[in-house]
Amino acid sequence: MQAAAPEKPQILVLISGGGTNLQAIIDAVKAEQIDAEICAVVSNRPDVKGLQRAKDAGIEAVTLDHTDYTSREAFDAELIHLIDGFQPDLVVLAGFMRILTADFTRRYEGKMLNIHPSLLPKYRGLKTHLRAIQAGDKEHGVTVHFVTEELDGGPLVIQAIVPVLDDDNPISLAERVQQQEHIIYPLAVKWFCEGRLTYNNGQALMDGQPLPSSGCQLDSRENA
Ligand code: GAR
Repeated sequence: MQAAAPEKPQILVLISGGGTNLQAIIDAVKAEQIDAEICAVVSNRPDVKGLQRAKDAGIEAVTLDHTDYTSREAFDAELIHLIDGFQPDLVVLAGFMRILTADFTRRYEGKMLNIHPSLLPKYRGLKTHLRAIQAGDKEHGVTVHFVTEELDGGPLVIQAIVPVLDDDNPISLAERVQQQEHIIYPLAVKWFCEGRLTYNNGQALMDGQPLPSSGCQLDSRENA
């Protein structure tokens, strides 16, 4: 009897909104740039565009509304239950705007990625584009990192650097940063699914070698 072909890695994506990063990953899977399957998309908000994007791609789309839960712990426990039902190899936070409990982050340590719109460790938290402009930064960007207990604090995988222009406002800067998000997130997911990107004891590794503390660097000015 012939052995069954090994299953492709299963990716579960968590969203809260529009889902343009989700779309970039869907497109990369469809184009076979990522050799994996998206087993489900879960949103903590009902009726967001990202859920429709999942349905349009034939992916199971689930809402788990955090306002139905009385505590962060209760919501995260239910979310764990839901996620584990799909047995994903990778959990991708794509604009999932929730602070996560330690129980949640520990459960998926080493198999959960996040994208954050700043050059971490700068500007953890919210309003990153406004803060970069107000600080007079000449460079801004976006980071993909492994998720740990520390908010926006896990080991970095890849960053894309974007120039801040003199006439930028938070919206124009965010648009330019998002173009880079849609390049680096599918790339990081691809590396993980190929087994090239791994995590060991708080450290991100590429092909078995520790990545530098700022991860891989992509400078959008070089591709302009
Ligand atoms: C993205 O810009 C992502 O970097 C940001 O939310 C947006 C979601 O957009 N994430 C965070 O701010 C996480 N702290 P999308 O729904 O169109 O992918």
